[in-house]
Amino acid sequence: MNTQEHEIHVYVDEADLFEFSKSEVREGLLRSPKELAPYLLYDEKGSELFEEITELPEYYQTRTEKKILGEIAPIIEERYEFRELLELGSGSSYKTRVLLDEMHQSGQLELYLPFDVSESMVRQTAEELSREYPEMGIYAIVGDFNRHLGKIPSGNHRLLVFLGGTIGNFKPQTAETFLRNVARTMDPSDRLLLGTDLVKDTAVIEAAYNDSRGVTAAFNRNSLKVVNDRLGANFKPDAYEHRAIFDTEKAQIEMHLIATSRQDVRIEAIDLDVRVEEGEYVLSEISRKFTRSTVESLLASAGLEMTDWFTDPEEKFALSLGAVRG
Ligand code: SAH
Ligand code: TRP
Repeated sequence: MNTQEHEIHVYVDEADLFEFSKSEVREGLLRSPKELAPYLLYDEKGSELFEEITELPEYYQTRTEKKILGEIAPIIEERYEFRELLELGSGSSYKTRVLLDEMHQSGQLELYLPFDVSESMVRQTAEELSREYPEMGIYAIVGDFNRHLGKIPSGNHRLLVFLGGTIGNFKPQTAETFLRNVARTMDPSDRLLLGTDLVKDTAVIEAAYNDSRGVTAAFNRNSLKVVNDRLGANFKPDAYEHRAIFDTEKAQIEMHLIATSRQDVRIEAIDLDVRVEEGEYVLSEISRKFTRSTVESLLASAGLEMTDWFTDPEEKFALSLGAVRG
């Protein structure tokens, strides 16, 4: 692959989002308790709100992960001299720049492959990065983790990164399947760098997802607007309260939208009428919290071996390196 190329490959377009959202929304709303697909959180507005979340004082994850990345980037670079960086759920690639700087400096980095479902984010980020790192090639993919991993071109000496604790937003079974599919794309010379938020004091976790400025609430309610826009529904976002609760047994935060009065909702595109009772909880997203041993078993279930575990002094967040088992 030549350097200095800047390509964008789109596998998720409006038509695809429409079809896929139809089945996801139908399935979710017919469950008890009702659920919304996390996939719906990241339209253009959702992606912007997410960026705001990462800067909130209560939201320790982004800052902590960035700090760990700064410390380990030189170690990783020196040890592996990767030629490619593939990032899943790349978003704004804000923290990735820490790695890119290090790899770029050593002159080994040829190609950056961001992969995200948010087309606006991918386009904007690819443009910015091609200016910031003019010698680096960019092969950007607008795709869905669960359907388009096969579209990633093969490579080697590649560092795969999956940051932000996004793996925790998948249900356990989905996380395993996803990682197994990721592992399948890996060459023995590749490594996976996985970011996971760690189990800690409930109050600290709950504060991070119930921020005082209400940005997380706005992010959560925005998913209803996405259903309205995409599927011609008539949800009233303001009729729902946001609440995030940590379930210590499952080690996951659960984000809910709670109807403040009875809601009769019609979703035109799937010809579905649903009633949400006053006080009813609609689950919009989970975020699992891990320990070293739960990360280790998650990796193992995907055929990956944990070769390194990096964390901050307070053990708030961790980055692990995984390799395919030989
Ligand atoms: N890596 C960034 C962003 C994390 S937020 C960080 O650490 O801050 C999760 C990202 O995953 C968002 O950019 C979102 O658009 C993307 N995403 C969510 N579901 C996805 C899916 N099914 N397929 C591809 N990308 C997805
Ligand atoms: N993966 C991160 C987390 O679980 C970011 C995130 C995803 C998030 N969805 C969210 C943060 C909803 C706040 C609200 O924290």
